[in-house]
Amino acid sequence: MAKVIIIDDNSTIREGASVVIRREGHDVWSADNGAEGVRLTKEHAVDMVFTDLKMDGLDGIGVLKAIREYDPEVAVVIITAFGTIDNAVDAIKLGAFDYVQKPFSPDTLRHKLLRGLEWRQSHHRRARLEGTQEVLSQTRDRSHHRNPSDAFEGMIGMSPPMQKLFGTLERIAQSGASVAISGESGTGKELVASALHNRSPRRHGPLIKVNCGAIPENLLESELFGHEKGAFTGAIKRKLGRFELADGGTIFLDEIGELPLGMQVKLLRVLQEKVVDRVGGERPTKIDVRVVSATNRKLWSEVEAGRFREDLFYRLQVVPIAIPPLRERTEDIVPLARHFLSNFRARTNPGVLRFSTETERRLSSYHFPGNVRELMNIVEQALVFANPPEITPNELPTPISGHLSTDTGTRHDPILKRGAMGLTEFLESVERREILAAYEEARGVKTETARQLGIKTSALYYKLEKYGIGTIASREQQTGSSAPQSSESQ
Ligand SMILES: Nc1ncnc2c1ncn2[C@@H]1O[C@H](COP(=O)(O)OP(=O)(O)OP(=O)(O)O)[C@@H](O)[C@H]1O
Ligand SMILES: [Mg+2]
Repeated sequence: MAKVIIIDDNSTIREGASVVIRREGHDVWSADNGAEGVRLTKEHAVDMVFTDLKMDGLDGIGVLKAIREYDPEVAVVIITAFGTIDNAVDAIKLGAFDYVQKPFSPDTLRHKLLRGLEWRQSHHRRARLEGTQEVLSQTRDRSHHRNPSDAFEGMIGMSPPMQKLFGTLERIAQSGASVAISGESGTGKELVASALHNRSPRRHGPLIKVNCGAIPENLLESELFGHEKGAFTGAIKRKLGRFELADGGTIFLDEIGELPLGMQVKLLRVLQEKVVDRVGGERPTKIDVRVVSATNRKLWSEVEAGRFREDLFYRLQVVPIAIPPLRERTEDIVPLARHFLSNFRARTNPGVLRFSTETERRLSSYHFPGNVRELMNIVEQALVFANPPEITPNELPTPISGHLSTDTGTRHDPILKRGAMGLTEFLESVERREILAAYEEARGVKTETARQLGIKTSALYYKLEKYGIGTIASREQQTGSSAPQSSESQ
């Protein structure tokens, strides 16, 4: 996780803030004066600084300047006493990320922390993207040398369950034990299998992947174990099976739950005896292969239903690894989305640099039934439609962009401020927002939207046109999914 420092001459604030930040899983340092704070920041390559404004010796502004000189990407938050907002605003002009007024609640602190670290991360990435190197390798570089723990072998995951998973993988990669990976579709099972291989002493050997569900049953045995010349009609020469090809390396048996019972017995023998029998062969061949398997079914229920052998089950699951679905680790959504953005933008739409805040918020509250793969596809598609430099919610598929009305509560926000807007502009912005929310809530069904709003359907058509709202649905048509309004003809 991140490194944070709190610089304040008040020990109560230092200690209180340290506890909160540490509970969030970060490393924390503290200092009671500016000079010491700056020294620690440099020494430990701190990511985020909270500094008091008024201190003897080097004050908050001094700290800010010293840190800006050394690294412009550290997120600095100024802590101000009540009534010194003007100084805080000056600090922001000098490059502080934000300010927080004393006294502050743990929640406020956590909020600033989260925002600051996100900023730090996106800013850092953006600065690198402006360089000339290839995007993908940059992302890798970054995750390796800056903060080695936020990615593991190309896998992004800041969330506690993923961090724990990376730890487990690192440990078990060394052993030769059989690993069974379970997880819903698109959670990254194949990626985990590759990571295990690449981190293991077998990494110089082959990694052979077999999708047990994709090979016809009658070919499976010869695919896995090979055959001798003339073993059956059509066996015109000897063929090595995937197990033999994987000798000295790793075999990844994907969709292991699809393996027919007959093959399960043979696989069990391979695991127990460490030999394979080629079809038509006379004696077994010794092999040295690590077996990693994956399933998106609940394999145990297959065992209970008598479709999967219990003895094989235990042989495969010497180490079970469960990858949680993305909806159970929502902290990973934005970092993953940014990762995919930086991977795809160069080839799809290089001017697009980021997601708008609202886009990230909506992505974070979506449940992703297709997990990481779905997120990846959404980002790739959104890039196509985005107007540089940002991806806005308009480029997201309707189920996600439609989340606004129920999840973020914008529509029901009681404090709509006119601000600098003229009255007409203000009323129109309110009208647009209400119509959009109702339209999304009604899943694009116009008669329903009009009913909800208490206006005539013809009036709605006019207003949709005026505010450019129909475009969301018409984009759906282009992308091939069924357009919500097509169920209803004019
Ligand atoms: N943590 C992650 N970080 C970066 N990319 C990821 C991560 N998890 C998954 N992906 C990417 O998402 C896509 C789907 O991952 P993968 O193919 O490993 O999933 P799977 O669990 O094997 O899915 P299925 O059950 O459908 O075969 C891949 O392109 C993969 O690179
Ligand atoms: Mg897979």
